[in-house]
Amino acid sequence: MLPYIKLPNKSLRVNGQEIFSFLNTSDKNIDWTTVESFGEEWSKFNFFDDQEISQIGNDYFDIVDEVMLNHNSYVLDVGCGTGRWTKYVSGRAGFVEAIDPSQAVASAANLLKNEKNVRITQASVETIPFADNAFDFVFSLGVLHHIPDTFEAMQSCVKKVKIGGFFLVYLYYSLDNRGFLYKLLFQISNLFRVLISKLPQKLKAFVCDLIAFFIYLPFVLISRIVENIAFLKKFIEYIPLSYYRKVSFNVIRNDALDRMGTPLEQRFSKKEINDMLIRAGLTDIQFSHNAPYWHAVGKKN
Ligand SMILES: C[S@@+](CC[C@H](N)C(=O)[O-])C[C@H]1O[C@@H](n2cnc3c(N)ncnc32)[C@H](O)[C@@H]1O
Repeated sequence: MLPYIKLPNKSLRVNGQEIFSFLNTSDKNIDWTTVESFGEEWSKFNFFDDQEISQIGNDYFDIVDEVMLNHNSYVLDVGCGTGRWTKYVSGRAGFVEAIDPSQAVASAANLLKNEKNVRITQASVETIPFADNAFDFVFSLGVLHHIPDTFEAMQSCVKKVKIGGFFLVYLYYSLDNRGFLYKLLFQISNLFRVLISKLPQKLKAFVCDLIAFFIYLPFVLISRIVENIAFLKKFIEYIPLSYYRKVSFNVIRNDALDRMGTPLEQRFSKKEINDMLIRAGLTDIQFSHNAPYWHAVGKKN
């Protein structure tokens, strides 16, 4: 295991495991309200079925091959949440360090309690307690758009990648590959997000459950029908939320809360993400053609 480069501020005990905390209240590139909201979200959604982790994980890692990630790789998961992708990757990697600033680290400790090649640490992207150029593979899925300065956070991640190593990122897309109607629907939903994210946690969770049931589910059902009609199948990507046809209602509820209940979210076009990755020092950038949009991988040179 890599040594920490500084002393922890405190430690937490979860199920007999000790988790060191490097949280620093003077960190600037962090939105504490968002972090608190995620801590509460992950204490509610802390169980993921192995088969579903593997199925959705394959969608995020579709552009990652054996050269980029293998059993010799030392890996860092930035913003691990409940640790579902740490769990996915632990089967393909040598060792995985998982960090998150929220209370989610306690949920991650539960989900990952049987993984021997994983260590969880409470830390923010601004103060990652590991040496620079130390990791073969760093990934951050659905995290950096919840941080005030996304590019600065991306730079902090890339700093930790070894020369010749790889960085995989998933950032919310700005619907740059979508038409007018899709964008309009999004603008309306975004107005609701701004309001819903301000509600007290229990009410927020309830409203998001209603949204999961009355908005996500109907689109999911339409998508499932369309998928089974040969001449309509090719249009499935045009149906909002059609990605969710492949997942359980538990994941839909979790994502509805994630999408509608989070105070800070930013969105980026493919071009903006590509430019940021290049400016952060990556080359050989490859975007997936498939959802979730956009996820991309690059090499540090
Ligand atoms: C949408 S969740 C994604 C979690 C996980 N990657 C997944 O996909 O299941 C976003 C996570 O980013 C974490 N986060 C927020 N601000 C952060 C920061 N400054 N540094 C690192 N992680 C942060 C939150 O605590 C939360 O767990």
